[in-house]
Amino acid sequence: MRNILVTNALPYANGPIHMGHLLGYIQADIWVRAMRAMGHDVTYVCADDAHGTAIMLRAEANGISPEAQIANVQKEHMRDFDGFGVHFDHYDSTNSDANKARSQEIYIKNREAGNIAVRPVTQLFDPEKGMFLSDRFIKGTCPKCKAEDQYGDSCEVCGTTYNATELLNPKSTLSGAAPVEKSSDHYFFKLPNFGQYLQKWTRDEGRLPVSIANKLDEWFEAGLADWDISRDAPYFGFEIPDAPNKYFYVWVDAPIGYMSSFENYIKTKRPELCFEDYWKKDSKNEVYHFIGKDIVYFHALFWPAMLEGANYRTPTGLFVNGFLTVNGQKMSKSRGTFIKAETYLEHLNPEYLRYYFASKLSDKVEDSDLNLDDFVQKVNSDLVGKVVNIASRCAKFINTKFDNKLSATCAEPELVQSFIDAGTSIAAQYEAREFSAAIREIMALADKANQYIDEKKPWALAKIEGEEQQVHDVCSVGINLFRQLAVYLAPVLPTLAQQVQDFLQLASFDFASRETILVGHEIALFQPLMQRVDPKAVAAMVDASKDSLAAPAEAPKAEKKKEKKSDKKAEPKVGEAEIIGIEDFMKVDLRVAEVLEAAHVEGSDKLLQLTLNVGETEPRNVFSGIREFYQPEDLKGKLVVMVANLAPRKMRFGISNGMVLAAGNGDGVWVISPESGAKPGDKVS
Ligand code: MSP
Ligand code: ZN
Repeated sequence: MRNILVTNALPYANGPIHMGHLLGYIQADIWVRAMRAMGHDVTYVCADDAHGTAIMLRAEANGISPEAQIANVQKEHMRDFDGFGVHFDHYDSTNSDANKARSQEIYIKNREAGNIAVRPVTQLFDPEKGMFLSDRFIKGTCPKCKAEDQYGDSCEVCGTTYNATELLNPKSTLSGAAPVEKSSDHYFFKLPNFGQYLQKWTRDEGRLPVSIANKLDEWFEAGLADWDISRDAPYFGFEIPDAPNKYFYVWVDAPIGYMSSFENYIKTKRPELCFEDYWKKDSKNEVYHFIGKDIVYFHALFWPAMLEGANYRTPTGLFVNGFLTVNGQKMSKSRGTFIKAETYLEHLNPEYLRYYFASKLSDKVEDSDLNLDDFVQKVNSDLVGKVVNIASRCAKFINTKFDNKLSATCAEPELVQSFIDAGTSIAAQYEAREFSAAIREIMALADKANQYIDEKKPWALAKIEGEEQQVHDVCSVGINLFRQLAVYLAPVLPTLAQQVQDFLQLASFDFASRETILVGHEIALFQPLMQRVDPKAVAAMVDASKDSLAAPAEAPKAEKKKEKKSDKKAEPKVGEAEIIGIEDFMKVDLRVAEVLEAAHVEGSDKLLQLTLNVGETEPRNVFSGIREFYQPEDLKGKLVVMVANLAPRKMRFGISNGMVLAAGNGDGVWVISPESGAKPGDKVS
């Protein structure tokens, strides 16, 4: 067993999580789950990156304090990660006491080691705002081509790079005032002190993707420069010790957030772990940072140098993801491809995206494309068509004909063993972050399993008298093969895996657990596992992402939410509801459904889980908030009316695929039921 600490890049606390972010977070989460399934002790932490000018100004624009700003955003970030099954052991903020103490300590150790310098820097200063301006907050005329309205670092028209002080006719984008040149003392981290150290460090085995190490060589050749680590007040961040009114530049305390988040984690949740065991020099425990390619410079140069200078260990490796495009292009608000995590979750099952990303990711620093048509096609054909299909084809026979028990002996031990053996290379691919290769191998196994069932045709055998044993054997083999696939997919699809684990009544779903073949084993009643992706839901998500462009930024959002809530409480009186046309009403597909199963939902005092026959080939799973008013047995066998074309909703307990109609008045709830004679699937209008 290895002791491993994994981190993800800390998202800035000034905006929502979107599909691009999720690529790296889902990648890390899959790796963490896979390494745990292999038996390693993995700690997985993250935090919001809370400091800097951008966040300070965002808070100001929203009319709230920076602390309130970062607290609001952190809540949203945590909700979004949770929604996608990105399960950190601990999620912190860089604006914590622990991070302040650690940042100051690392700074002081570096100062004592002679790695800090102070010298005056002349910069543009906004006299109205009373603050120094970074390049992004200055616009003016390009000194070379005379193009107007260019940023303070480079010209978008002719491509020239320059110093902001060289711009002609410069203006502060914050106040519009003409900036003035002003000098102040800045603190520098002497990166050149670490030139040789870093040149070797970046070439150490396994430290960095080779393509990145090559890129870094260009920087070494160009020569390393001192790094400006201070910002003058006003700045939202930590004050530099012994330097009044000087603050650490956000990129100083941001990576230190990896350490302090871990520190707060062990303090609050795992006191048996020791901080030093992970961070002292020469620690044998492993530390990996998952980051995007745009922030390599900070993680491969400044960060290891700061750690080395303060006598801490450096990361074992940096795992770098490329960028995400949607439909082949940069994410765009006007095309509706700037999709926020929150918007996605309103329309689609998060496991679809986890699977799609896994099928694309490798250990290479390559960009990935989320092509929405391909996404629908791949999820439907692989997960629904191949994997889930195996279970639904076999389970019903075991459930209905064999008292939920698998055969007492395995009829195809070699076939099942070949699936078990494949786990060795699948595990190795997960470990090497070759997820796309792992998925290819798993899908090849799924094809093999389907082929086996196609050849044996249990549904045909079931009609022949005297073939019961055959049916039992074939379906039991099918379930065993399915179990192998579910174990292999578990790091990618944790919710599905949990459902399968419950269905198969297995205590463990670790990779090692797969090695015992299931014989004479009792399984639970099969529940539909995953619905097809509805292309309409994808289109609705894209539409909703276009809307968010028109919506004003951050501040009014809180109000919008409040409105929503109160809407829900105060039901309009009869006659007060919005008038709609018949065409709106016709959009709602109301159907008669028969309640096949009704059950309590563990962990919920509101919900009943209903299995409904709506006259389709597969029953539907619907969660209904009627537990306070109905016992499961009251509903079993009953005919109800359901909305059959409601977009599937992911809930904490699974996916709800429709809604059952009921009358309610605050005192009670009465499920609506057609008179006898109606059949499941009948249209209600
Ligand atoms: N706050 C810094 C990281 C500090 S780490 C000590 C930051 N934040 S970020 O919110 O801009 O980005 C968070 C992560 O998402 C980074 O790894 C970044 O590379 C990644 N991505 C942001 N947009 C992305 C895409 N479009 N595609 C893939 N990854 C993207 O950087
Ligand atoms: Zn120019």
